[in-house]
This record gives sequence, C-alpha cells and structure tokens, in this order.
Amino acid sequence: MIQWFYLFLRKGTIVMLMSELIIKKRDGGVLTTEEIRFIVDGYTRGEIPDYQVSAFLMAVFFRGMDRRETLDLTMAMMHSGDTLDLSGITGVKADKHSTGGVGDKTSLVLVPMVASLGVKMAKMSGRGLGHTGGTLDKLESFPGFNTGITHEQFMEQVEKVGMVIAGQTADLDPADKKLYALRDVTGTVNSIPLIVSSIMSKKLAAGADVIVLDVKTGKGSFMKTQEDAHELATEMVEIGKMAGKKTVAVVTDMDQPLGCAVGNALEVKEAIATLRGEFAGDLLELCLTLGGCILTASGMADSDEQAREMLMETIHSGAALKKLAEFVEAQGGDPASVYDPTMLPMAPVQVEVPAEQAGYVSELDALGIGMVSLKLGGGRATKESDVDLSVGVVVHKKVGDPVAAGESLATIHAATEQAAAAAVAGYRECVKVTAQAPAPVRFVKEIVR
Ligand code: URA
Repeated sequence: MIQWFYLFLRKGTIVMLMSELIIKKRDGGVLTTEEIRFIVDGYTRGEIPDYQVSAFLMAVFFRGMDRRETLDLTMAMMHSGDTLDLSGITGVKADKHSTGGVGDKTSLVLVPMVASLGVKMAKMSGRGLGHTGGTLDKLESFPGFNTGITHEQFMEQVEKVGMVIAGQTADLDPADKKLYALRDVTGTVNSIPLIVSSIMSKKLAAGADVIVLDVKTGKGSFMKTQEDAHELATEMVEIGKMAGKKTVAVVTDMDQPLGCAVGNALEVKEAIATLRGEFAGDLLELCLTLGGCILTASGMADSDEQAREMLMETIHSGAALKKLAEFVEAQGGDPASVYDPTMLPMAPVQVEVPAEQAGYVSELDALGIGMVSLKLGGGRATKESDVDLSVGVVVHKKVGDPVAAGESLATIHAATEQAAAAAVAGYRECVKVTAQAPAPVRFVKEIVR
C-alpha cells in the first residue's frame, strides 16, 4: 500500500497513474517521453505490477508506437541499468545481432573473421529461446569455455584479443530482462516497437560504434513475411542512427535452417569447417555480407567487393581460425579443440534419414527442424532445463538439391536409439520432395543502411 502511494505521489503531488497510461495507449494515444520513462523505471524497480505492464504491452501490440515513442522506449530501457563505455578501447568497436533462427552459428564464423582484420568485436549473446538456438550454449561445447565474464574482463579481452562473446550481465538492461520474460508469456513478443526496443536497448547499452543486424524472415523466424522483416529492419536502423550509431540491417531467409548443422556442438563443428574453407553455401554468404557491412561501415573497406576479398583472405590464410582459437583460450576453453573438433561433444547414436522417393527437396521447415533438435535435448523445454550439447541434426539436402531414393536427407545425432527413431519421424515431416525443382530462393533479401 505504501509502495502504491509512492507511485502516485512525488513530493506530495500526483505525478502519473499507470492505469491512465494504459488507457491512453489502448485508445491509440501517443505517450510522452516522461510517461514512457515512468513505465520503464517503475517496472524495473518493481513498483508497477506485472498485470498493469501486461495490459500496457497488449495495448502497444495492437496500437503500435511511432518512431519517437520507440526511441524513447529504447533509451529508457537502455538506461535502466549499467552501460558499457568502450571509448577507451582503441579502434572501431562493432557488434552484431541476429533476430534468431535455426542453425544460426553466424557469430562463430563472422566474429573471428572480422576481428582478425582488426575490428574490435564486443558481443553479448543469449541462450536458446524456444526452437531457436543460442550462441552461449554453442560456445559451451568448447571444453572449459566460460561465458560469464565480468565487465572488466570483457573490456580487457576486447582490447587484447580483439573479440569477446559473453552473456549479458544482470545489470545491463534489466528492463529488457523483465519485459522480455513478460512478453514471452503474454502473447506480446511479435510487436515491432517492442522487438526494436528490446534489441536496440541491449545493443546501445553494450557500447559499440557499429551495429550490424541480421533480420531473419520466414517460417523459422519471428518475422514471417518479408514486409514485416523490412519494417523491423528499417525501424532498428533508424533508431540506431538516431542514437548516434552506424547501423546496418540485412534481411535474410529463415525458411530453411542456416547452413547444415542444427544443434550446439554440431554447429560449432560446422563453423570450424567453414573457417577452414571446407564449406561454402548460405552460411558463408551471410558472413561475407554481414562482414562486408561491418568493414565498410568501419571505414576499413571502400566497397562490398573489397570487403569480401579481405574476409575470404582471413579464411585462406588461417587468420580467422587462429583468432577463434585465441578467443576460446582467453575465455578458459581448450584452444586445441578448435584444431581438433573430435574433442568436442559427440552423440553416441547416429542415424540416417533416407529419402523415400527421388526428386528435389522443395521445402525444409526450419521451425520443425528446430523442434526436432530441441526434442533430442539440444534446446530447453523449460528455462531451467539442461542442454545436451552433442545432439541435433546435420542436413545433407537443402532446398533445391536433387535427391535419389534411399539417399540420406540428414543424419540424426541422438543420445538413445529411441530418441533417434522419434527424430527420424519428426524430420520426415519437415521435408518435402517433389518431382519438379522449386524456384530458386534469394537468400539475402535486402540490405537496409
Ligand atoms: N530478440 C530480442 O532480443 N528481443 C526480441 O524482442 C526479439 C528477439
């Protein structure tokens, strides 16, 4: 009761009523900077209850926010906790974020490539969410790897090694932690101003000069249509620019998994193979595109073509793989596992999924394959679940590939024969083989600068 009184009164005067702000947004009103700050600060401090903020989020979900409101929400969230000041670190500091997908091991390839060229990559990452994987879980496949470093270690490693990927500390953007958890259970995740403020507040709090965003579109992503992905990309770029950062967004396909591996250690192995120059395809294409955006925005390359050449050279020379090993060692992992991936976790059971008919793969349901990996134990059923780092799926036939009857579509990596059999059945439901080859899909849909 005393707490409530404090909410309404500041120095004896009634300031704002949360219920009035809910009604204002519900009726399509535009909130002021002070009103938005009041909501974010009050919720972060635990003074405004979940039920009022849930109602507010639902009002935003249906009524939206204009760009000024979205910027205010982003800034209020960013200032809800600590922010990192990277200005004392030499050189350009860049950060990359993906809106989340299946088989998305981009950071494990892109970050060492770019860091080996001298751009300082300071990245905070998350754990798996639903059917989408998380970079922190993948990194823990390296024996001994520590994702929970302090702000001081974070800064020191950016300067010394040129790259860091760590978990977000509790004191960075606490508003997002609370709001995201509430959105997850109130049907309010898929709102453009809420996604923009969630992602951009974290990126701005982490202090980089250049922010590159990978906005996924398709069945395996939050943005199911290209129009929605375009709007999300444009809003994030505008908010980043208004906050004084060089911001670029790339809209990419997430109808099928990225690359071939889905599952933590399997994805790390694919990332290492890519850095060894053994894999081309959509994963490498994405790394060259995002890396090109980072190098041109940082002023290190004059054109996308020049940037691509520089990035490919980091693979040919072995510089990117060496940078990955340095990074793994700096965060307590065994660098030998970068050069010998057989040291990484390996599932005891491997079973093929043979094609039942000849033809072309015309559909590969990313969301479904993410669920197959999750059910094998590669993701979390609840927030508290442990992840089995060794399990998952390796896709052998991607959309457009020809396949003969009996040829393997994928290999399932499982803890038991029983889990493998269920995964084989699950995987079959995700693949469509047709007599006609499907129309080619453009992987990089658009770049928003
Ligand atoms: N990723 C985030 O960090 N926030 C969102 O709201 C959606 C995806």
